[in-house]
Amino acid sequence: MKTQVCIIGAGPAGLLLGHLLRAEGVDCVVLERRSPDYVLSRIRAGVLENITVSLMERLGLDQRLKAEGLPHDGFNLADGERLIRIDIADLTGGQQVVVYGQTELTRDLMDAREERGLEVIYETEDTALFDVESDAPYVTYTKDGTQHRVDCRFIVGCDGFHGPSRKAIPASVGKEYMREYPFGWLGILADVPPCNHELIYANHERGFALASMRSETRSRYYVDVPLTDKVDDWSDERLWDELAIRLGPEAAANITRGSALEKSIAPLRSFVFAPMRHGSLLLCGDSAHIVPPTGAKGLNLAASDVHYAAEALTGFFNKSDNDAITAYSDTALARVWKSERFSWSLTKLMHRFPEDGLFERAMQQAELDYIASSRAAQTSIAENYVGLPV
Ligand code: FAD
Ligand code: PHB
Repeated sequence: MKTQVCIIGAGPAGLLLGHLLRAEGVDCVVLERRSPDYVLSRIRAGVLENITVSLMERLGLDQRLKAEGLPHDGFNLADGERLIRIDIADLTGGQQVVVYGQTELTRDLMDAREERGLEVIYETEDTALFDVESDAPYVTYTKDGTQHRVDCRFIVGCDGFHGPSRKAIPASVGKEYMREYPFGWLGILADVPPCNHELIYANHERGFALASMRSETRSRYYVDVPLTDKVDDWSDERLWDELAIRLGPEAAANITRGSALEKSIAPLRSFVFAPMRHGSLLLCGDSAHIVPPTGAKGLNLAASDVHYAAEALTGFFNKSDNDAITAYSDTALARVWKSERFSWSLTKLMHRFPEDGLFERAMQQAELDYIASSRAAQTSIAENYVGLPV
C-alpha cells in the first residue's frame, strides 16, 4: 500500500489526526493493534480543554459532544474540611472545560470513519517502522497471518506509551525525562449521580481522592493507593467507604453508592521524550509524553500535538512548506513542558507522598492557604486547567 501519511495507533490522537488530514485532502491510513471494542473499553480521561473541543468542532463531529458534554465553570480543591473553589470561568474571561469521556470522543471519531473516508486497519500485529530518517519510510505489519507493507512520506506515532514508534528513534538522538510516583490511582465508574456538580480534588490525611463524573447519572471516582495494591483488594464497599472519608463529610453525605461498571488501577508517571520528530517520523500524544492525571491534561496534550502535526503535514503536502515540520518538535514540546509542570505541581500539592515529613505537609498547607487567599494564584491554576493557548 502507498499513502502520504501512515499513522500508528487509533486512540484519540491517531483518529483525530487521521480525520484532520482527510479533511484537508491528505491521504493517510491508521494501523491499530487492538479491536474497536477493546479500544472503546478503556476508561480513561474525562475533562476536555478548549483545544480538544475546537478540533471536534472544526471536524463537524461535535454534535454529541455539544448535546451530552457537561460544560464546567469551576472545580474544587479540598483540604480536610476546607473547600477552595477555582472559578475558572470568572478567572479566565469566561472559558470552561467540558466533561465528556475519552471513550465517547473516540466513539464519535470511530463512527465517522466511513463517511469521512478514513481508513483504519484494526488488529494489526508486529508493526515495525523502517527508514524513518529517509524521505521514503515504510511500515510493516501482519494481519490475519499475512504480512503487509505501507510506503509513505511520513509516519506519525500515535501508539501510546508502549508502542513501537518512539523506540524507532535511536537512543543517541533521543532523551528521556522520567518521574515515577509511589502510588497509583484506583478508579471506579458507576451508574450513580455525581456527589457534586463540579469536580472535587481532595488532599486528606488518608490520601488523595477525586470525585468526577461522565454525565448526570454516571460518576467516576478515584483514590490513590500503594503500587502494591491490587484491584481485588478493593471491594466496592471498601472503596465507597474510603471515598466518603477522603472527600469529607459534605461530599460524603451526597455520595450515592452503586456497583462498579469498571474498576482499575493506573500507575502515575511524568515522562517526556525529546525530540518529538526524527526525520520523517513525528510523535503525538502518549507515545512522546505522559502526565499524572491530576491536571486532566493527558488527552488534551495529545489533541494539541495533533493540532500542530496536522498543520505541519497539511502545510507540507498542500503548500510545499517544510517549515512547520522542521519546527514541530520545538513547538509541541513548548506546550508539553508547561502541562508537565502543571500536572506535576498539582500532583505534589494534592497527594501525601510516603517520603514526605512534617515540613512537606506544612508546605502543602501554606500553598493551599495562599491559593485560597490569592486571586493571582487561583488565576494561574485556572488558566492552566482550561488549557494554555495553542
Ligand atoms: P492511547 O490512547 O494510548 O492510544 C494509543 C493507541 O495505539 C492504542 O489504541 C493502542 O492500542 C495503539 N497501539 C499501541 N501499540 C501499537 C502497535 N504496535 N501497533 C498499532 N497500534 C498500537 N488522562 C486524563 O486526563 N485523565 C485520566 O483519568 C486518565 N486516565 C488514564 C488511565 C490509563 C490506564 C492510561 C494508560 C491513561 C490515562 N490518561 C488519563 C491519559 C489519557 O487517556 C491519554 O493521555 C490519552 O489516551 C492519549 O491518547 P493517545 O491517542 O496518545 O494514546
Ligand atoms: C476523570 O473523570 O476520569 C478525570 C477527571 C479529572 C482528572 C482526571 C480524571 O484530573
